[in-house]
Amino acid sequence: MRRVLSTLTIGALLVSACDRKWPASMEEQPAVRPLTAPRPAPEGSVPVGGVETLDDREDAQDLQNPYAADPGAAATGERLFNTHCAICHGAKGHGDGKVSAKFPPAPDLRYVTICRRSDGFIYGTITAGGRAMPTLREGLTSRERWALVAHVRRIEKDGCLAASPTTPGGPAGTGGAP
Ligand code: HEC
Repeated sequence: MRRVLSTLTIGALLVSACDRKWPASMEEQPAVRPLTAPRPAPEGSVPVGGVETLDDREDAQDLQNPYAADPGAAATGERLFNTHCAICHGAKGHGDGKVSAKFPPAPDLRYVTICRRSDGFIYGTITAGGRAMPTLREGLTSRERWALVAHVRRIEKDGCLAASPTTPGGPAGTGGAP
């Protein structure tokens, strides 16, 4: 009886082995292959650390600020703004930074066109750069970049300016607001 059982077991194993779903060759594994793109992040996920592969600010358009409820974010953003942005956008974000005299002028961040941008777009601009603005992701964690977005929103709180073609840094300027 035992012999019959073990024969049956071996038989069952052989049959199931023939029915296997995986290939025998070790070259064919369900692994990420060389030169293939890594698995994309799940849809709607927001990066909160590490280095993003964001190349185009438009791709960040729909991201929501994961720290929107953090009351300290704008204050952190203000501190970072003085170090990373004021040189072009001016201490108050009014577009009168020193570099703007020599470089395509950085716009006043209260322009209505910028006010209408989504948080994600501004985050994308800081991360991937704009038309003339360089990428500023280096040395800034994604949390810090979201804090900067919170500060930009605070700058706009006192009212937005209609962009005029004659305003320095406006739409007519080489690097002006769109
Ligand atoms: C080297 C100068 C420079 C620095 C530094 C700089 N910007 Fe800009 N920024 C620009 C210029 C020029 C533009 C307008 C053209 C463009 O979009 O690139 C701009 C545009 C923007 C816009 C408007 C984007 C749009 O199209 O609506 C935002 C928002 C912005 N900057 C935020 C920031 C923040 C926040 C920082 C600091 C983390 C920063 N910038 C640092 C030069 C600069």
